[in-house]
Amino acid sequence: MNNQSISNIGVFTSGGDAPGMNAALRAVVRTAIYHGKGVFAIKCGYDGMIDGEIEQAGTRSVSNIIQAGGIVIKTARSERFRTSDGRKQAFESLKKFGIDGLIAIGGDGTFRGCVDFYKEYKVRIIGVPATIDNDLYGTDFTIGYDTAVNTALDAIDKIRDTSQSHNRFFIIEVMGRDAGFIGLETGIAGGVESILIPEIKTDVNKLCSQIRSLFERGKTSNIVVVAEGDDAGGAYEIGDKIKQKTGIDYRAVILGHIQRGGRPSAKDRLLASKLGYWSVKHLIDGKANVMAGEINGKIVLTDIEDTFGKKKPIDTNALEMAMVLAC
Ligand code: F6P
Repeated sequence: MNNQSISNIGVFTSGGDAPGMNAALRAVVRTAIYHGKGVFAIKCGYDGMIDGEIEQAGTRSVSNIIQAGGIVIKTARSERFRTSDGRKQAFESLKKFGIDGLIAIGGDGTFRGCVDFYKEYKVRIIGVPATIDNDLYGTDFTIGYDTAVNTALDAIDKIRDTSQSHNRFFIIEVMGRDAGFIGLETGIAGGVESILIPEIKTDVNKLCSQIRSLFERGKTSNIVVVAEGDDAGGAYEIGDKIKQKTGIDYRAVILGHIQRGGRPSAKDRLLASKLGYWSVKHLIDGKANVMAGEINGKIVLTDIEDTFGKKKPIDTNALEMAMVLAC
C-alpha cells in the first residue's frame, strides 16, 4: 500500500494479443480520466516504453474500440526489457511523461516484467489478465479466453461436418502454450472423441485402441483435440504415430493464430470492462504489484508473482466425462 497519490497513469499491452484487450484499454483510459488523472497509452508493449512511444489518451481516443479484436495500441514480446539497461531506459521514458503508475494488460510474460520493474524502480503497477491461454492464477478467466474457445469451437463444428461426410479421422491442434484450458473446454463443447492436454500424460497406445473401437462401434466421425504443449507432440506428430500403429489415415488441422483474432465475445467485453475499471480504482487507492482478477464474480487482487508462480488448477476429471459422453 502506498499513500502517495498517482498523477499520471500509463497503460500498455504486452505479449500475445487477446480479444477484449481494446475493451480493457477503453475502461482504463475512461476510468482514469473520470478520476481526474492523466492517462498515457504506451504503444508496442515494453519496447514502446523503452523507445518513448507514449501518447496522452483522451476519452474520445478510445471510442468505437470495445467491439474490435486485436489491440489498437499494439503489443509485443520485448527482449530488451529483460535487460537492466532496457528497464532503465523504460523508467527514464516514464519519468519524461510524469507517469507514476502503470496498468499492464497481458499474460505471464507481461507480469514477469512487472515484477523486475517494481523491484528496481518501485513503479506502481497493477496487472490486468489478458491471454487466450487462461493460465494465470488469481482469476477464473482471463480476457480473450472465452472468445478463443468460441472461435475454436466454431472451427471444430465445421470440421465435424466434413469428418462425418467422409468417415474421416481428424486431429485438431489448439493453442494454449503449455496449458490445456482451451483444449479441454473446446473438446467438451465440440463433443470430440478424445482430448489431449499437457496436464495429463498421453498414452498413445490407449488412444489408438479408443479410436479403433469407436470406428468399430459405428462412429462415422472421429475427432481428437490436442492442446499445444502435449507430451505426445502436435497434430501431425500424433497423427503419424496413430497411423503407424493402426493404419488409420488422418487429416490434421492446426487452428493457430485464428484463435487470437476476431470480435470479443460479450463475456470478454464484460470482464475487460470490469477489470480495466477496478485496476485503475485500486491503483488510485494505493495498491501495487498485484493483478486484478475475478473469482466467483468478485474482484480479487493477487500478488503479481503468484499469478505465474502458482499453478492454476484445471479440472482433469472432466476428461473422463468427455470420454463417456463421446462414446
Ligand atoms: O500466449 C498466447 C499464445 O497464443 C499461445 O497460445 C501460443 O503458444 C503463443 O501465444 C504463440 O505466440 P506467437 O504469437 O508469438 O507465435
